[in-house]
Amino acid sequence: MKKINIAIDGYSSCGKSTLAKDIAKKLDYKYIDSGAMYRAATLYFLDADIDIQDHDAITKQLNKVNISFEYKDGKPFTCLNGINVENRIREMRVARAVSHLAIISSVRNKLVTQQQALGKEKGVVMDGRDISTVVFPDAELKIFVTAEIDIRAERRTQELLAKGIDANLDDIRANLRDRDYIDSTREDSPLSQADDAILLDNSNLDRESQLEKVLVWAQEKIHAANGSSL
Ligand code: DC
Repeated sequence: MKKINIAIDGYSSCGKSTLAKDIAKKLDYKYIDSGAMYRAATLYFLDADIDIQDHDAITKQLNKVNISFEYKDGKPFTCLNGINVENRIREMRVARAVSHLAIISSVRNKLVTQQQALGKEKGVVMDGRDISTVVFPDAELKIFVTAEIDIRAERRTQELLAKGIDANLDDIRANLRDRDYIDSTREDSPLSQADDAILLDNSNLDRESQLEKVLVWAQEKIHAANGSSL
């Protein structure tokens, strides 16, 4: 059975990664969190005390940033230069800086090249901001996820608290608004819904109903890729 690639884009904290992980598990595909790569690169520059606004310095030091994904009990975690940074990249100091780093074209070129290599063999579910438009413009299934800002802020706060990471609802709501604005107005690969992406507003959908809906779309595309109908 031929595999397909599934691209999931959308605003910050609207449940893209939960959805992507759920589909990948059901289909036995690989889940790749492209946002984690931008976050890990951001963490490197924050730790190295390099100003995120200094695009030349960032570009010069980019070769020191090596991001990979490891797996424990089937669950992926993000590594920066071989060290597990999965929890550290979720902290607010990274969330505040990441969209500023993600406007830099040299950073995007490096990470997009790595993302495209990861999806070359198909069977990948990747979530981010430019997956349908830039990373995998030929993805068989493209989904653009959105949800109301208050719902997103509440979900994100609960998610962080559950992981033991400090979280304040008002700070998180403000950060989501800032990131949405920067991500969708930047010059290089702004967040936008691809013409052939399906819009999914999950404000009032629970996790199971959302997964059920998307699995139907995925199965249709998998059958089409294999020349059969449902
Ligand atoms: O998905 P996330 O919230 O973890 O992503 C963090 C930031 O990384 C997001 O605000 C913008 C940037 N990003 C991007 O520019 N392109 C992607 N494909 C994924 C994330």
